[in-house]
Amino acid sequence: MGLDVNSIRSEFPILNRKLPNGKKLVYFDNAATSQKPQCVIDAMSRYYEEYNSNAHRANHTLADEATSALENARRTISSYFGTSPEQLIYTSGATEAINLVAFSWARENLSKGDVIVLTEMEHHADIVPWQQLSKDMGVEIRYVPINIENYFLDMAAFEIAVKDASLVCVVHTSNVLGIRNPVEEIIQMSHDSGAKVLIDCAQGAPHEQINFDDSECDFIAISAHKMAGPTGIGCLLVRKDAMEEMGPFMTGGSMIKSVTTKGSTFQEGHAMFETGTPRIAEAIGWGAAVEWLSQYDMEEVHSHIQEIASWTAEKMKNIEGITIYGDPKKSNSSGAVSFLHATIQSQDLALLLDEGGFAVRTGHHCAQPLMDALGVPSTNRISFWIYNTMDEAKSFVEHLEYVVKRFS
Ligand SMILES: Cc1ncc(COP(=O)(O)O)c(C=O)c1O
Repeated sequence: MGLDVNSIRSEFPILNRKLPNGKKLVYFDNAATSQKPQCVIDAMSRYYEEYNSNAHRANHTLADEATSALENARRTISSYFGTSPEQLIYTSGATEAINLVAFSWARENLSKGDVIVLTEMEHHADIVPWQQLSKDMGVEIRYVPINIENYFLDMAAFEIAVKDASLVCVVHTSNVLGIRNPVEEIIQMSHDSGAKVLIDCAQGAPHEQINFDDSECDFIAISAHKMAGPTGIGCLLVRKDAMEEMGPFMTGGSMIKSVTTKGSTFQEGHAMFETGTPRIAEAIGWGAAVEWLSQYDMEEVHSHIQEIASWTAEKMKNIEGITIYGDPKKSNSSGAVSFLHATIQSQDLALLLDEGGFAVRTGHHCAQPLMDALGVPSTNRISFWIYNTMDEAKSFVEHLEYVVKRFS
């Protein structure tokens, strides 16, 4: 049937926005954060207008309503990700989810000399917590390289690196290259070696239906704001046996069973890791986003995005001086197109594109080891989502052609 993109666009008020220079916004920075449909904005406003209260505390009507909404959202979100509410720990996003694994699982279960396998294409969120752990505990980190010819992970190197590893942490889909890693194979090979696996699905979840239980993965990290949800919330999905091996992360209110001046005892399950006042409005907003997204077939969403991305990348290749990093033609590529111009600096190019109304990302994309592997300090990146259109892509290519002709 195809997506009715015009109807989808009408649900996103921001897409009608005009920039200060009068240009219509063309939002191509979706890998950084997606826009939010009206129903998500409304769900969060309704909470503040009608039943704002703390959750899991008082017995009054508003408190009951807030608690029910928080826990209903957990049911909706966990079910969307193919698992049960008990396996979902609310976090501030993928970054906190990965830090939670580093603090609560790795510190409890690893010791000096144990091996953690990462890849060169990880986001800093999946590098720095492990480097800190290595400094504190002496664990060894191995980085699997990418094949610079085709930008894919070097699976022969992965096979060697994983042999005596205790933990493997791999990005589902690169935020720079748009490359989707063979996560099914990675999970299988890691488990065959006796290692636990964490998959960073910050970029994967907006493009693909993630089914946690079927994946047999031990940990999955997700951010809501890249999939129509609000900022400030995400989750860590954790298998039951792995959760039982985890110690407390942040401590304080909500996560305790009892506290005396002598010491404290802790809640079990996800409650142990959700300390302090929960992210109530954000959870409600994410629940609404997931309900909204559930009406679409993610395979259809993905092919819509991928069609625009591969068309745009092919056109861009014909523009003098443009180099593309990644393989947007690959059917499972996410729609992130990283590129550079030979003589126009990436920051300048971003400003020239912004003058045309095009919001694009520039920089190292929190992936400096990948930038080093590519031999560049930064790239420009366009990234598409469900509401982008081929017309927007065409106007982008025209504007880029104009900018390159005029300024190179
Ligand atoms: C692949 C990847 N991992 C992790 C993150 C961190 O997500 P957040 O900043 O929402 O915690 C990002 C954000 O861009 C990302 O693209």
